Amino acid sequence: MTKIALGVTSSIGIYKACEVLRGFQKNGARVQVVMTRNAARLVSPLLFGSLSGLSAIVDLFEEPVSRDVGHVSLAKEVSLLCVAPATANVIGKFAGGVADDFLSTLFLAARSPVLVAPAMNEAMYLHPQTQANLARLRAMGVEFVEPEKGYLACKDEGWGRLAEPQAIVREGMRLIGRTKSLKGKKVLVTAGPTREPMDPVRFLSNPSSGKMGYELAREALARGAEVVLVSGPTSLIPPPGARTELVTTAAEMQEACLRAYPGTDIVVMAAAVSDFRFKDVRPRKTGKAEVPSKLEIERTPDILALLGKKKKKGQLLVGFAAETHDIAGNARKKMAAKNADLMVANEVGQGRGFGTDDNELRIISASGPVHPTGKISKREASRVVFDHIEAALEKKRR
Ligand SMILES: Cc1cc2nc3c(=O)[nH]c(=O)nc-3n(C[C@H](O)[C@H](O)[C@H](O)COP(=O)(O)O)c2cc1C
Repeated sequence: MTKIALGVTSSIGIYKACEVLRGFQKNGARVQVVMTRNAARLVSPLLFGSLSGLSAIVDLFEEPVSRDVGHVSLAKEVSLLCVAPATANVIGKFAGGVADDFLSTLFLAARSPVLVAPAMNEAMYLHPQTQANLARLRAMGVEFVEPEKGYLACKDEGWGRLAEPQAIVREGMRLIGRTKSLKGKKVLVTAGPTREPMDPVRFLSNPSSGKMGYELAREALARGAEVVLVSGPTSLIPPPGARTELVTTAAEMQEACLRAYPGTDIVVMAAAVSDFRFKDVRPRKTGKAEVPSKLEIERTPDILALLGKKKKKGQLLVGFAAETHDIAGNARKKMAAKNADLMVANEVGQGRGFGTDDNELRIISASGPVHPTGKISKREASRVVFDHIEAALEKKRR
């Protein structure tokens, strides 16, 4: 049976939490309520305990029923942590890594999807600090059911009213469903730039930050896949749960990809592999006086084309094409030349694509029309890409 942890905090919207609990139960889930101490001052834990059939947890240091550490064992058991309503306070604590009660400690221990439904007065919601906290959580992969505009308890009219319970339950069940859509599938994602050395202190590279690839790896994990992330040098923290291989050069990336390729169902080549490398790599730092006026370069291995040649029936190959002009046209040519099933094309240059948090993609399949995403966050873009991947897998299966 699916188990959900429902976090309840001390917002005036707390009365709707009973409906959220009921909604999850109607979908066949068992619900463990976790309340903050302040929430327990607004409404008795007995109400939630009676509705759920499991005593509501409030105190982190209560004598445990079993010898397991409560927040850690609950984190392992649940398929979703849903916090509804979420106060400005708890959102700030989650964003800042504060773990001073059961709910905030559970948040840090959770490996399941986390869904947060904020509820607060409009001024609190629109405060730059709250907005910064929300953005920080969004970047970590936390999902939200946005509050609505309407009549607030403080007698103001505005943003901040807790979303309707049915909308929260619908989104929660969608997230749980998503955790299974790629179960049993092995996904290889490449990310970041490569560096091609000239000598031990100089290299040829590009401004890729790796953010898109890391988001894609995160999305594949959220859908239940086994993920291998082959990453060039970035400053990002690898997503927990992925097997991450850190590489530097295109040749190393090729080697790591070839090792992971057999048995892989989906390959997403989001790395910005350097197309060239220096022909002679000098073992020692080249002094200024020794640098020749011309340096010879050569092509690096074309990893996408190589994997395209080795592609087996049932394997799905997705390429990324960073273009500065004729974006869709160039991407289509690459797709055919490299035997890829999907191409994700994006415009780069003049502040677009590289290093930013947003992306504007065009998703191209061999038969279908070009799907433009418009300007969306890399997090959202990773979802759209995997929706197309799942649709393409389904087509292959038929
Ligand atoms: C009646 C009442 C209603 C409140 N409603 C909200 C609310 O809707 N949103 C919010 O962020 N804070 C609200 N607060 C303030 C929070 O309860 C307060 O910030 C508290 O410290 C949050 O604690 P918690 O996040 O641990 O539950 C309310 C306080 C009271 C007394």
